Amino acid sequence: MDIKKLLNTLTIEEKIGQMLQIAPFFFIKNLEIEVAGNVNDLALNEAKIFRAGSVLGIRNASEMIEVQKNYLKKSRHQIPLMFMADVIHGYETIFPVPLALSTSWNPKLAYDMARVSAIEASTAGLHVTFSPMADLSRDPRWGRVVEGFGEDPYLNQIFTKSIVEGYQQDDISKDGNIAACVKHFAAYGASESGRDYNTVDMSRLSMHNDYFTGYKAAVDAGAHLIMTSFNVLDGIPATVNKYLLKDLLRKSWGFKGVTISDYDSLHQIIEHGCAEDDKEAAIRGIEAGLDIEMASSCYTNYLKKLVENQTVDIKLIDQAVYRILKLKKQIGLFDNPYKGASIEQEEKLVRSANHLQRAKEAALESAVLLKNDGILPLNKKLKYVMIGPYAESTSTNGPWSWHGRNNLNHQLSELLVEQGISLILTKEVSHPSDLSDSDMELVRESDVIILALGEHEKESGEAHSRSDIRLPRKQESFVTFSEFMNKKSMVLLYHGRPLDLTNIMQTNAILDVYFLGSMANDAIADLMTGVNNPSGKLTMSYPRNVGQIPIYYNHLNTGRPKTDGGHNEFVSYYLDVENSPLFPFGYGLSYSNFNYTDMSVSKKSITKDEKLKISINVENTTNIPGYETVQLYIRDYSATISRPLKQLKGFKKIWFDQHEKKTVEFELSNHDLSFMNGEGQTVLETGRFAVMIGSNSETLTKMDFHLVKEVVK
Ligand code: NOJ
Repeated sequence: MDIKKLLNTLTIEEKIGQMLQIAPFFFIKNLEIEVAGNVNDLALNEAKIFRAGSVLGIRNASEMIEVQKNYLKKSRHQIPLMFMADVIHGYETIFPVPLALSTSWNPKLAYDMARVSAIEASTAGLHVTFSPMADLSRDPRWGRVVEGFGEDPYLNQIFTKSIVEGYQQDDISKDGNIAACVKHFAAYGASESGRDYNTVDMSRLSMHNDYFTGYKAAVDAGAHLIMTSFNVLDGIPATVNKYLLKDLLRKSWGFKGVTISDYDSLHQIIEHGCAEDDKEAAIRGIEAGLDIEMASSCYTNYLKKLVENQTVDIKLIDQAVYRILKLKKQIGLFDNPYKGASIEQEEKLVRSANHLQRAKEAALESAVLLKNDGILPLNKKLKYVMIGPYAESTSTNGPWSWHGRNNLNHQLSELLVEQGISLILTKEVSHPSDLSDSDMELVRESDVIILALGEHEKESGEAHSRSDIRLPRKQESFVTFSEFMNKKSMVLLYHGRPLDLTNIMQTNAILDVYFLGSMANDAIADLMTGVNNPSGKLTMSYPRNVGQIPIYYNHLNTGRPKTDGGHNEFVSYYLDVENSPLFPFGYGLSYSNFNYTDMSVSKKSITKDEKLKISINVENTTNIPGYETVQLYIRDYSATISRPLKQLKGFKKIWFDQHEKKTVEFELSNHDLSFMNGEGQTVLETGRFAVMIGSNSETLTKMDFHLVKEVVK
């Protein structure tokens, strides 16, 4: 298929149609009766609908086939529709929510998640997924932190890249592969006060060094699409932001793929106060380089007139449509409009035993043991009760799992009993006072109370920001109830965002299980009984209270840092709370213990062409085998701009047999020691650096070295 030739045969209406994305029901329902409201809202008619280029959301292969058939019947050029949807952490086989997946510090699991998602979604006829979400965030009030990979730019890049590779592999035309649309470009995770869709205002330094790295990694990994964000940046909505879409994305990063707005976000620039009406929105969108408009109709209804009266250059439309048609060709749609869709394959592959097993492997590594005063693993000789609002819950899929079915997930209590745990009571109650007299008898009889607490699936995700991230009072009272009953307790914490856990710290153990997907409870049971050893480490700092937010490990030092010891009033601190988080970035316990000794660096000084080798001995001092994630951070002591106190530059997740000791080695190169200036250029400056290694961002061994122009002999 010669795309240029095809483009030249299209009428202007047909070209503009390719730039519209709408829902599947437009193509299969009676337009006058069943979708009349939607049709009118968007000011569409049948002709415009049947010229649309792509579809948002599809239920299964049979729906896709029906939509495509109906569409092609009316299509003059037989240009197939492209099908896109949000497959975020699994299609039907649901993996841990992305934030939890990142706590595995195992990008291979993220790759697996993307592979399984692509295989399943492709059988349903999907060609593009709106994933990965590469929005860095330092604000747990923002509900969408659940969809990202935490607060660190380095980790964000690694996970984003693996996911793009997992979806696309080397060829998106093959069945089982789908194209990745990285989102939300740009800096959506920095919305003021953590309120979704809110204003973003930040320095170019933060953009380039922290917030843009994830999108850039996805682009470098070959993501075929990028979605704009709802927020403004420099006062300009991202959807019509020329700096973002042209200067940075296309010129500087060399992106050749397709740009797409977020849902209705082109139209919403009117609310932002950046366009008078849809017509002006269309002008700003096309001039900024926005190719596809999702779920609004500024382009469809106005671009033709704007070309005719010479306000908009047709060349801009041609460029956008060329990119869209090229993507359709790359997907292989001109060879097979039903690419991937297969009702039989769908039956066979979706939620297959193999896929569920891989989801379980990911879940096993994505839980974080935050505290453990000898409660875990559970002891078969003791008696347990499990109470709390999530004690019988199978709602473990989490936000953005619209094809996942919670009712197929297993109950934790049954799995624990199967493993020989004496669980004498499981009761889903929202407050201890809801327990009956006979329940209370069993509580008295028990040795340990397991408290299943946290957030509901719908309390995080899009448009689900919170200003108070403590557990509800009712839930905190379970911990005081356990104390009152004179019982040991442990908290099993289901949730989507970092929480303020200060008020439940008197419990004896906390296993942080987020939403781990279809196999969540199966994995949790194995972790609780010790069949598997927890190995997750936090990828966002957990604050002591909401007033510390934004709180993140890689902050600058200030001119008046608070130091340990001595007291000086005029330093950077709070009167009422420490500066440090309750649980730092990189933190997570295991049933094993790991000892770090004998750190060494290969040289005291290196030039920019040399590498620094760093090694440290790590020993599992217990007879319990397990994983440890060894983390490497650097500090640039003095530069033309202030640099963070710590920056993650490497990590290794390593298996240790009982009492095994290993030497762990890293290398640092000039790339790791450089930073970006406000123009987005890489800068390398000589001077003194620190390299730090340890088990989390606070427990580290440190050594200094110099980056020099030449080594003095
Ligand atoms: C709005 C969300 O912000 C975005 O992440 C999603 O991909 C689109 N809706 C499409 O569902």
